[in-house]
Amino acid sequence: MILRDEIFNPFFIGRYIGKQYFCDREKDTETLVRHILNGRNVALISPRRLGKSGLIRHTFAQDAIKDRYTAIYVDIYATKDLREMVKALSEAIVKAVGQKKSWHEKFFTFIKSLRVGFHLDAVSGEPSFDIGIGDIENPDRTIRELFDYMEASEKPCILAIDEFQQIREYPQTNTEAFIRSLVQQCSRTSFIFCGSKRHTMTDIFYSPAKPFFQSVISQSLKPIPMETYVEFAGRMFSQRGKILDRAAAETIYRMFDGCTWYMQMMMNEMFALTKEGMICTIEYIDFAWDNIIMAQEDRYQTILYGLAPKQKQLLQAIARDRTVEGITSSDFIKRHRLVSASSVQAALKPLLKNDIVTCEDGIYRIYDYFFADYLAKKH
Ligand SMILES: Nc1ncnc2c1ncn2[C@@H]1O[C@H](COP(=O)(O)OP(=O)(O)OP(=O)(O)O)[C@@H](O)[C@H]1O
Ligand SMILES: [Mg+2]
Repeated sequence: MILRDEIFNPFFIGRYIGKQYFCDREKDTETLVRHILNGRNVALISPRRLGKSGLIRHTFAQDAIKDRYTAIYVDIYATKDLREMVKALSEAIVKAVGQKKSWHEKFFTFIKSLRVGFHLDAVSGEPSFDIGIGDIENPDRTIRELFDYMEASEKPCILAIDEFQQIREYPQTNTEAFIRSLVQQCSRTSFIFCGSKRHTMTDIFYSPAKPFFQSVISQSLKPIPMETYVEFAGRMFSQRGKILDRAAAETIYRMFDGCTWYMQMMMNEMFALTKEGMICTIEYIDFAWDNIIMAQEDRYQTILYGLAPKQKQLLQAIARDRTVEGITSSDFIKRHRLVSASSVQAALKPLLKNDIVTCEDGIYRIYDYFFADYLAKKH
């Protein structure tokens, strides 16, 4: 039987739609659920784009969690200081509790400092919450109120803070100790601290001198096994009257070292290119690849435009080599006509900080596989 779901392309990017479109992660989900049910706080650490945020969403959707807890998810990647974090957190809480009738009554009993953001629609009488960054006059006070509110919630809360390492970028030096003390005062609320910068996350949670030392159980993510992803992708095709050639699926898995985001991007495009009743073969890969790069070209150019000439030159050198082991070695510098080891180091810093380049075990590469290929071919 051919499935005719409303959403026709079953490969999603950047969103969690539901269990039927989510591949595997059964063990990871089970582990995370178990930690939560046992009241443990968790640090979830894995390289970017492997599926951390997806795993949190999927965990929140499990029956054992969704019926028993109020699950709150906040991504602090774009926040620059505690004030912005407090804004994001208050909005995330309202998002989690805002469907309940009269949610605002209890919320504003606790969070008096944000009452300015509360409005009742003149026509429908519906409550809404809308604050500007300037409305948070005293972030320390507001965050305390938010934590008190979570603790007093009818069902216990789970707060997942995604890209938690961002707190290290805040100008206030005591943020970590302050948040740790708030977390410590909670007896009913569980926390998931999620992050992709291994080095920083490890320092936050495993350094004896740091406030969060020994306060969490850690969990990491590995790529979904090839066999499992290939089966999932094949099933998504066949349920919708299309066939995915096994060799094509395996090639895609290998191209991206099993990194979920890129595989999903490719599969989404491959699915779109395949007509009903047809077989998606290995020949489709080049078309799909070109289409993705074409769709991203403007974004790539914007990134390049924002780089200093030395950063651009270094980026192109990394792209040409694909992976670089001795990035300040004289061989690398000479071959790519870069100036010196110190200028490479200076150019590298912002590329790493802005997640354009990544380093795992001393090996550097460009994060985005498509961007890397675009650079290697076009520049
Ligand atoms: N198990 C899965 N099955 C299908 N798609 C998934 C799965 N896990 C994640 N995805 C998809 O893969 C992409 C990357 O996942 P996600 O955003 O969860 O990764 P992440 O590790 O949080 O990445 P980032 O570091 O960029 O925040 C998303 O488009 C998501 O929808
Ligand atoms: Mg994420």
